[in-house]
Amino acid sequence: MRQLDLVYEGKAKSVYRSDEPDRLIMRFRDDITAFDGEKKDVLSGKGRFNAEVSAFFFRYLEEHGIPTHYLGLIDQSAMVVRNLEMIPLEVIVRNIAAGSIVRRYPFKEGTLLDPPVIMIDYKSDVLHDPMLNDDLILALNLVTRDELDLIKAIALKVNELLSDYLDARGITLVDFKMEFGRRDGEICLGDEISMDSMRLWDRETGRSLDKDVYRLGKGDVIAAYADVARQILSEPAGGAP
Ligand code: CDP
Repeated sequence: MRQLDLVYEGKAKSVYRSDEPDRLIMRFRDDITAFDGEKKDVLSGKGRFNAEVSAFFFRYLEEHGIPTHYLGLIDQSAMVVRNLEMIPLEVIVRNIAAGSIVRRYPFKEGTLLDPPVIMIDYKSDVLHDPMLNDDLILALNLVTRDELDLIKAIALKVNELLSDYLDARGITLVDFKMEFGRRDGEICLGDEISMDSMRLWDRETGRSLDKDVYRLGKGDVIAAYADVARQILSEPAGGAP
């Protein structure tokens, strides 16, 4: 497969057309940004770790019945994906209060959220990703009621699968963000599942293993990302999953 022209450039990924119809190439770059793009750096190796972890989780989710855009890796930092009609929503599932939910609401960091809390933002750099509710999502005609219900059900299922998988390897899934699209009218998980889009804590030490290391200047970002890549490929301490 050949990489053709650039169709989309985000803050940390570039998407290219390929010479196969309906197949795109999603390349994970070494760029890292935070605070709405105010903090920016290039960290050598980051793209490779995020591609590896995303590919691993997409495969794992597909094996457990979640429809995703993932088709394969073509090199260490690029995935082949199905071309989806993307829905401009950022679907965030939170298991523990951290980040913006602590800044905006009276939660103490580390509070267990059980059942998990789903928050959905409108994906727009210009509008700074404002938070939506069901009525706004439907009024904006972004999805139908049935699609919204399905997106939430898939989001909770993905949360369960990822939380269990990571928990068995000593990592707590604090929160993470997903993006969805349509393929032949069917809702499908797109984008990435990486250390840039998840908040992960080492269960024993509480150490951050995700983009918070960068956001908060908490140490060696690449070492943390490498730790996650290594741990997700390891056998669990106490058996399945
Ligand atoms: O972490 P931050 O304060 O930017 O936002 P948050 O609402 O606390 O983020 C919740 C989770 O979604 C974190 O794991 C973020 O990394 C992820 N997220 C993302 O990947 N992209 C965004 N535009 C917003 C949040």
